[in-house]
Amino acid sequence: MQRIFILTGAGISAESGLRTFRDADGLWEGHKVEEVATPEAFAANPELVHNFYNARRSQLLTVEPNLAHHALVQLQRKWGDRLTLVTQNVDDLHERAGMEKVMHMHGELLKQTCTNCGDVSDCADRMSIESQCEACGEIGCVRPHIVWFGEMPLLMDQIHSKLMQCELFISIGTSGVVYPAAGFAEEARRHGASLIEVNLEGTDISPIFDEHLQGAATDTVPELVKRLTDTL
Ligand code: OAD
Repeated sequence: MQRIFILTGAGISAESGLRTFRDADGLWEGHKVEEVATPEAFAANPELVHNFYNARRSQLLTVEPNLAHHALVQLQRKWGDRLTLVTQNVDDLHERAGMEKVMHMHGELLKQTCTNCGDVSDCADRMSIESQCEACGEIGCVRPHIVWFGEMPLLMDQIHSKLMQCELFISIGTSGVVYPAAGFAEEARRHGASLIEVNLEGTDISPIFDEHLQGAATDTVPELVKRLTDTL
């Protein structure tokens, strides 16, 4: 059985009702990315950034995993540890569908990090400049557990090691413009993997893939999972 590496992006959660990053005139829920997703933005206006992520967190509680998230769980049940799932998404829809060992390289909306002691913990519904870290007791030092532009994505050593071992690399619903994730397909290819891209449309990196499955994730992902499991 092939070792499979799956990378997901905002497109897999789009049909659940969460907007992607690059589908609305470069704005994300009405904000420029540099207003809400950089350490500089947080330093300059922590209340705005907290409110933005508080709103994202409330919205997340109103949506559900879709058929694409559920299909990947079926694949994991068959493939076990030979399947790696890395997501750029900060939502918890993979987990809510039943996926195990999801690697969130860009952090998680439902967690907070303390800039004083480094503790990462589940966060309350709303975070503010008055929030207190439960580990060190410091007030005003918790921030969303989100990798912002200019910061190092998480779990990179483990991710590189899984990329080197995989025989099939599948990219689902990502525009392939944000590095380092956008370079994973090329890295897997250098180590001999076959590459499948699943997306509504072609992307900047489509030419390096062996196969492009065009369409909505809720159609294409279940079809792909069926194809893979039928070949077992
Ligand atoms: P993007 O918004 O850049 O791209 C979403 C991709 O999903 C596009 O290529 C769409 O064509 C595709 N798409 C949309 N709806 C789809 C559907 N129903 N089925 C299949 N594909 C669909 O989102 P990401 O590539 O995830 O980083 O963005 C990467 C990173 O940029 C994010 O993790 C975030 C952002 O800034 C951080 O927050 C650090």
